[in-house]
Amino acid sequence: MKTKKCIRVPIRDAEKVRIELVESGRLDSQRKIKVIDKGQRLLEIPVTEDIEGFETFLQENAEFYNKWQSMGDMLRDDIFADELEKLPSGWHIIGEIIVVTIDPSLDHLKLKIAEALLRMYPTCNTVVSDLGISGQFRLPKREILIGNNTETINKEHGCLFKLDVTKVMFSKGNLHEKKLMSNIGNDETIVDMFAGIGYFTIPMAVHAKPEKIIAIEINPESYGYLKENISLNKVEHIVEARNGDCSEVTPRRMADRVLMGYVNTTHHYLDSGIAALKPEGGIIHYHETTPESLVFSRPIGRIENAALKAGRRVEIMDCRQIKKYSPGVWHVVVDARIT
Ligand SMILES: C[S@@+](CC[C@H](N)C(=O)[O-])C[C@H]1O[C@@H](n2cnc3c(N)ncnc32)[C@H](O)[C@@H]1O
Repeated sequence: MKTKKCIRVPIRDAEKVRIELVESGRLDSQRKIKVIDKGQRLLEIPVTEDIEGFETFLQENAEFYNKWQSMGDMLRDDIFADELEKLPSGWHIIGEIIVVTIDPSLDHLKLKIAEALLRMYPTCNTVVSDLGISGQFRLPKREILIGNNTETINKEHGCLFKLDVTKVMFSKGNLHEKKLMSNIGNDETIVDMFAGIGYFTIPMAVHAKPEKIIAIEINPESYGYLKENISLNKVEHIVEARNGDCSEVTPRRMADRVLMGYVNTTHHYLDSGIAALKPEGGIIHYHETTPESLVFSRPIGRIENAALKAGRRVEIMDCRQIKKYSPGVWHVVVDARIT
């Protein structure tokens, strides 16, 4: 963890102290000098160590320079021109951890890349490289490049998500979808069949305040974090977590709304999703990975077939393309009212 030490200095003395700190190499030039008390005219000067004659404080809400300096600018002098072009252009910040995908041909540069990222984001303390996500449990494959802290708390949309980035996935995408879900469901009974660590369940519980959410998760590791996130966000009175396979533990005939936020084989669970809805009807949010030519005909057809089999009717309410999943394949969502 980087220390964020600072000293507090009256504005009238600040320039003199700043120059002394620069000359003695103890000014932390990555952080900005901040006014903290306009009344008493005090400045907070970031420092790299304790300074004799001043009390040391730990700076809250530090502001950093260099945030937007590009990785290319930082590494330009150390690497070849063709390598510059392959440097990662994006990464995810999850709490204090940076997750980055590195082109395999730059394997020999991964430490340099990780160091550059830490310089760009001084509040982070660990960098891991992303080697993909696999299997039904969505297990991430990740290599730690710098640091050893893989458990963190990510803040998103007013919610806290605790997780270990080497053990469970955290989808930083789908932001629009998560926001959408956080606005619906007030006073309803909801079943989240593929809850993960609470990606949809937590924002819904925090913002929409449903009557109840039953959140089902098969992976014990994710289920553990789901339970922690329910307490962290203080929504124990709304969310009941269940560890198990949703084809077996999804309740029947009680939900106003069912979330099916899973891809690849989601259609295998449509019967359970539809059976969870109240006999008078309800809404499902059905996710699927669909080949481009079958967007949205295949997911709609699958919902209609499953509803027909259950003797129920379908009204398609909305269809959304969330993101490209792989070449020629889209992650889509269909909202359908089933009666
Ligand atoms: C993609 S993740 C959660 C995604 C989240 N809704 C999002 O958009 O980021 C899907 C979760 O479903 C869980 N899962 C997979 N099959 C399941 C099943 N049959 N029953 C319950 N959970 C399941 C996985 O372990 C994983 O945590």
